[in-house]
Amino acid sequence: MPLVTSTEMFKKAYEGHYAVGAFNVNNMEIIQGIVAAAQQEKSPLILQVSAGARKYANHIYLMKLVEAAIEDTGLPICLHLDHGEDFDICKACIDGGFTSVMIDGSKHPFEENIEMTRRVVEYAHERGVVVEAELGRLAGVEDAVKVNTKDATYTDPDQAVEFVERTGCDSLAIAIGTSHGAYKFKGKPELDFARLEKITNMLPGYPLVLHGASTVIPSFVEECNKYGGKLDGAQGVPEDMLLQAGKFGVCKINIDSDGRLAMTAKVREVFATKPAEFDPRKYLGPARDELKKLYMHKVVNVLGSAGKA
Ligand code: G3H
Ligand code: 13P
Ligand code: ZN
Repeated sequence: MPLVTSTEMFKKAYEGHYAVGAFNVNNMEIIQGIVAAAQQEKSPLILQVSAGARKYANHIYLMKLVEAAIEDTGLPICLHLDHGEDFDICKACIDGGFTSVMIDGSKHPFEENIEMTRRVVEYAHERGVVVEAELGRLAGVEDAVKVNTKDATYTDPDQAVEFVERTGCDSLAIAIGTSHGAYKFKGKPELDFARLEKITNMLPGYPLVLHGASTVIPSFVEECNKYGGKLDGAQGVPEDMLLQAGKFGVCKINIDSDGRLAMTAKVREVFATKPAEFDPRKYLGPARDELKKLYMHKVVNVLGSAGKA
């Protein structure tokens, strides 16, 4: 089976009131951990690559690893560019075999965002590739960009309708209170579900995307802290809120930080308990197993996508 786009996945997810996980990948162990989880749970899967991941691992290595995962498992996998900042990176990923790209014009004024999104949509659609865009602005850290809470803006429902109509984008990432990274809420976690419901009602059947959806599992934070990490105050989105979002037209849920925390916690544990260890397989292997466990949990308990492949 070749790589697939997210079109069918989102259609089924929308109708079935669940979401497909979009997990960030940077190397072989991460890909294998995620894919093993999806295979065991028979879940559809979006693997996403940021500009940073592309720079770190090199486009062709990631591409070939994902192709190997498909050949190995037969799973429907969509390969997606996460947070493409301009036409050029989207074009490079489309030309380089990705089946989905995100053009993230959310930091630009509305008209500029529309213009750049429309250009990418035109190029992508001519080549059978789908496009995610973003309207509204999440707080937090993405790549080298840090958005302060005061600069974050929630998505305006009327603008969302106009944006989708004028750009023809296939899915839309919205801002309703999640943020990137491990520190999402200082006090009580709150998402603007009224806004989400309004957008869903105004765009019936249309797939929405939620970024910044790590739950920041306390046990991984504790593990990191126990072995010298300093993650005090890290707090993610509660699981029940994500399940609820999946019932309100959110078809794609982005998770990266949880994987980072899980992997790092395990590597720290290995080094702390076996200080003489120097075989990378002896710490990357357990980290890969830990990722599999984490993503199985996500697929079953947070996304509801188990058995939907
Ligand atoms: O939203 C950003 C993702 O977590 C990717 O992070 O750009 O550091 O690879 P990165
Ligand atoms: P987290 O930092 O919450 O994992 O969000 C990841 C994300 O939105 C990637 O695009
Ligand atoms: Zn994101």
